[in-house]
Amino acid sequence: MSLHDEVKKRRTFAIISHPDAGKTTLTEKLLLFGNLIRSAGTVKGKKSGKFATSDWMEIEKQRGISVTSSVMNFPYKDYQVNILDTPGHEDFSEDTYRTLTAVDSVVMIIDATKGIEAQTKKLFKVCRMRGIPIFTFINKMDRAGREPLELLEEIEQVLDIETYPMNWPAGMGKQFLGNFDRHGRQFIQFNGNEEETHIPYETLNSEAHAELRSQSSYQLAKDELELLDEAGDTYSMEAVMAGEQTPVFFGSALAPFGVQTFFDTFISMAPAPVPRKSTAGPIQPEEEEFSGFIFKIQANMNPAHRDRVAFLRICSGKFERGMSVKLARANKVIKLSQTQQFVASSRDTVEEAYAGDIIGIYDPNIYRIGDTLIAGKKQFDYDELPQFPPELYKKVTAKNVMKGKQFNKGIEQLVQEGAIQLFKGYRNDANIIGAVGELQYEVFQHRMKNEYNTEVMLESIGERIPRWLKEDQLDPSIFDERSMLVRDRKGNYVALFKNDFALNWFHDKYPKVELIDLFETN
Ligand code: G4P
Repeated sequence: MSLHDEVKKRRTFAIISHPDAGKTTLTEKLLLFGNLIRSAGTVKGKKSGKFATSDWMEIEKQRGISVTSSVMNFPYKDYQVNILDTPGHEDFSEDTYRTLTAVDSVVMIIDATKGIEAQTKKLFKVCRMRGIPIFTFINKMDRAGREPLELLEEIEQVLDIETYPMNWPAGMGKQFLGNFDRHGRQFIQFNGNEEETHIPYETLNSEAHAELRSQSSYQLAKDELELLDEAGDTYSMEAVMAGEQTPVFFGSALAPFGVQTFFDTFISMAPAPVPRKSTAGPIQPEEEEFSGFIFKIQANMNPAHRDRVAFLRICSGKFERGMSVKLARANKVIKLSQTQQFVASSRDTVEEAYAGDIIGIYDPNIYRIGDTLIAGKKQFDYDELPQFPPELYKKVTAKNVMKGKQFNKGIEQLVQEGAIQLFKGYRNDANIIGAVGELQYEVFQHRMKNEYNTEVMLESIGERIPRWLKEDQLDPSIFDERSMLVRDRKGNYVALFKNDFALNWFHDKYPKVELIDLFETN
């Protein structure tokens, strides 16, 4: 198969959702389609610690969770699928955001009984800022939830994205009859946990389906559908690819219902790997020469060896185990012989891979997040990964003041690696650590102790809303505890607002001070 064909069949995506919306349940169904697992409940077991334990870092063992997102890859029909996990709950970290820089599309799961929830909103913002195409799966239609029209309206208003329902549900909960499949021009009947029935539009009016047609929720859905056909947004592939319109599917991951139709449609519509920006202009995935970038580093997976795995997104060409590549930043040539592919929990050696694939490479402590690897003569760097605004802030000091040197070295390296973000207090030069999730602090503390032999003390400054400032407008006297002034690693000034109220108050009082939200500008 040609490189072009290999690239065209790749689908690399992440599933984003708020905890409990059904991400595990849906992922499990997709893994079943891919024959990666044989029965449901396998992935779920991992959560409760029933899954085979690996020799991952101690903290993972203690908590029974995977600290950083994992990757699942499998062939499905004519496609090669890469699913990147985006952990939530306490595992939420900057890695969760960074994972989204390595995908070509995203599936957003929304719980029909709850609508848009906090974590979905956060992850959505990253997709929006990067223009990633988003496909929506509204889950739990087998339970009495919110009205479908109301849910669409909420998506449009809260997330500011056009919606295009690919199917339309008739009833919900106990009255759930099934979906009108607009794309496949059929009615898909819900039979509880039994197999779904597919009725083509042409035969819907036959005598055999008289009973279905007589149900009020069927009629109501049909009317709504007509309304949508006439007055709803028109489907635009261009808008979907630009992340401005989201195709919406209704279903139930648990039943399962509508999952296969969703997946088949999604996989055929979702983009294959697209060109990626670099200092030498856009790099086409079909370019012969291999290139990629590192978006995540997982440290100490095996404490005995202290080795690390760097997650690499291949952006062009073909990867072959043992090939030599250049690390652009350090102008170093490295032979990639220890590689891993991630299939749920098992790790297989990967011999070859193509643009779009994600592989794990052994990291003898030389890679940094955002590093570009290239084979061949070309020289370029992929665009820097964005800095994500942290939400939690803690002041950090060494327990033992004699360990200052180790302490500084540890912080410097962990910052470079992207494990945490470092800020300096404006007035007192205090070290302030910003994180997206609480877990990052645990990992930080653990690694400072184990790798740099330094115990650290953390003092919470609480949740904060960071806004970057333009230096020439700076008058330090207008900032106080509610708008704490700090500098980021590059020396830019940042105000950490205590809450929305403090932010709005400041904005009203000093309208001329430009407050920059990184989510809006990246
Ligand atoms: P998450 O990974 O997004 O956190 O969600 P997960 O799949 O674990 O699902 C959260 C809960 O919602 C689970 O119930 C799951 O069974 C249920 N669920 C998922 N999809 C559907 C659906 O389509 N319909 C209904 N009715 N429920 C669904 P739980 O009671 O928390 O877990 P369990 O004890 O059933 O495993």
